[in-house]
Order: sequence, then C-alpha cells, then structure tokens
Amino acid sequence: MEERSAVVRSTQVIAVGNQKGGVGKTTNTCQIATALAEMGRLCLIIDLDMNAGATRHFGIPTKSFMGSFEMMLGEEEPEDVILRNGDADVELPENLHVIPARRDLEGLDQAIAKHSKFVVPHDTLIGPIRKLRGHYDYIFLDTPPNAPTPTIGAYKAADWFLLAAMPNRFAIEGLEEALTDIRDAQQHANPRLRLLGVVVAGVDSRTSIAKRLTEYVQNLFAVDDKTSAKFKTIIPHSTVLPQAQEVGKTIFQTVPRHHVTDQFRALAKEIEQRIQAAPKLAKEIEEGREVVHG
Ligand SMILES: Nc1ncnc2c1ncn2[C@@H]1O[C@H](COP(=O)(O)OP(=O)(O)OP(=O)(O)O)[C@@H](O)[C@H]1O
Ligand SMILES: [Mg+2]
Repeated sequence: MEERSAVVRSTQVIAVGNQKGGVGKTTNTCQIATALAEMGRLCLIIDLDMNAGATRHFGIPTKSFMGSFEMMLGEEEPEDVILRNGDADVELPENLHVIPARRDLEGLDQAIAKHSKFVVPHDTLIGPIRKLRGHYDYIFLDTPPNAPTPTIGAYKAADWFLLAAMPNRFAIEGLEEALTDIRDAQQHANPRLRLLGVVVAGVDSRTSIAKRLTEYVQNLFAVDDKTSAKFKTIIPHSTVLPQAQEVGKTIFQTVPRHHVTDQFRALAKEIEQRIQAAPKLAKEIEEGREVVHG
C-alpha cells in the first residue's frame, strides 16, 4: 500500500447494477473508471461476478489470481488481492487497480458457511470496503446479474448506486426492479445509499425505439421538470467497445481519440460533478468512515 499511504482520500464507493444481464454494467464500469483514472483519480474496480467480466475486460487471466472471493471469505486482506499495472501478466491503465473475480464466487455462500455459522454472507464486503476507504478516490463494485450474495453485499457496502441500461424493454424492466431494491436497501440495510444516476448506453440514435426508451428513462427518473437522474451524456452503440474487450483493453488504450471515448470522458465529469454537488452526503460518509492509513 506504500504508494497510497501518503494521501488520505475521501473515497466514494459506487455499486453498478441492473438485475438484468448483458445491459452494459461491466462495460460502463470499466470505461467510466478508466476515464476517472485518466483525470488523475485513483480508482479501484472490485469484480463481484463469477463470470469475471471486468477482470477479462482488462485482459487479466481469470485463473491466476486470488481476488474478491478470498477477500469476501475473509481469507485474504483486500490490499493483498489488488492488481496494479506492472504485476506479472497484468497491463492496466495508470491509476486503475482491480480486485479480480473467478468462478469460485459461485460457491461463496457454501464456502462462508463452512468457515463459520455466524458470518452473514451479505455483510462480507462491508469490512473490506472499510479497510480500503481513504486509499482511493473511487471504488467501483461491478455486480453480477443473477447472484444475490455479491449483489446484496454491494447494496449494503456502497455509498452510491449507478444504474446501467441499454435502450431495450428488458434492460428498463431491470432498472425498475433495481430502483425498488435501492429503496429497500435504504430502508432496511444501508440508509447512506443514494442513487447516483442512470447511464444509458448502446444507443443507436437512428432508431426511434432508442429515442423513445431514452425519453422514458428520462421521465421515469425525473427529479423535477428539468432534472433527471438519467445522465445527460449518452453512450452510443459502437463496435469499438466489444472490439476493445476482445483484446482485453479499454477504449482509452485502443482508440483514445474516438468520439465514444470522449463521451466516457464527459460522463465521468458529469458523475464527479454530481458527487461533488452532494457535499452533505460526502460529509456524512467522511464522518461515518474509519480512515485506515496504509
Ligand atoms: N455502448 C455499447 N455499444 C456496443 N456494444 C456494447 C456497448 N456497451 C456494451 N456493449 C456490449 O454489450 C454486451 C453486454 O455488455 P456488458 O458485459 O457490459 O453487460 P453486463 O450488464 O455487465 O452483462 P452481465 O450481466 O452478463 O455481466 C457486451 O458484449 C458488450 O461488448
Ligand atoms: Mg457484467
């Protein structure tokens, strides 16, 4: 932890979700975190999906490293499973660290039960996140589509919830379900959790369905006549994203001057502005956190 111990950062923990699969959760998490890292913010992505989408997105071999599974099991300290650029077989953007995932996450509940009768599986992210606070500007939790333990764990440990959607009925249904879960989590488990906003991605502006569904999300999450929780920046549908994923890189590495890359830069700024505009919450988080010096 040497490089991070000098500065105590006001860490914002952002869970990214939508109950439905294949709606852009992982893609947006990886690109937004890289955009923030490019702005000089120190970012960590914790991959909570047994399919290891974020891990693979960065070209990290999924069988080689311990990661979120061992951390949630309490077998490894979070700082011991962080991957950084320069680690063997790892090539990450500057300022971007990853706690990888692997298939073992599938058996997390049984593994926890074997360790102790008293450990609540949903609570196993809380301790590691507490230890990581103060070391990063942003920690992103990339949640899986159909695995309750890591997802509920993320709702319980995060400060913010970022919803991801594509303009299709299926993804929008998932948004409505996730919104219900955010309210439920706020009421029963994590009163600090707040909706950060909704990212709409994969938009083909030539189709009228994309336009209609984007408007629907705008209205569904309207705060007042002018403001909506939907971010103004829309991420277009573009082959540069799957192409970069295929080679285990972000578009900041493959096509840094592309207009979609610029849209992620704009989105990252919008996200940071929204967080900074909520100073009261930041203060609450600050007071509620235990600062751990590396
Ligand atoms: N803006 C975009 N333009 C084109 N394709 C995209 C875009 N965003 C994501 N995709 C593609 O859509 C697919 C699903 O995206 P992604 O893996 O990010 O979704 P997910 O919600 O994390 O899925 P899962 O629930 O399976 O983890 C991927 O093949 C990805 O490359
Ligand atoms: Mg994913």
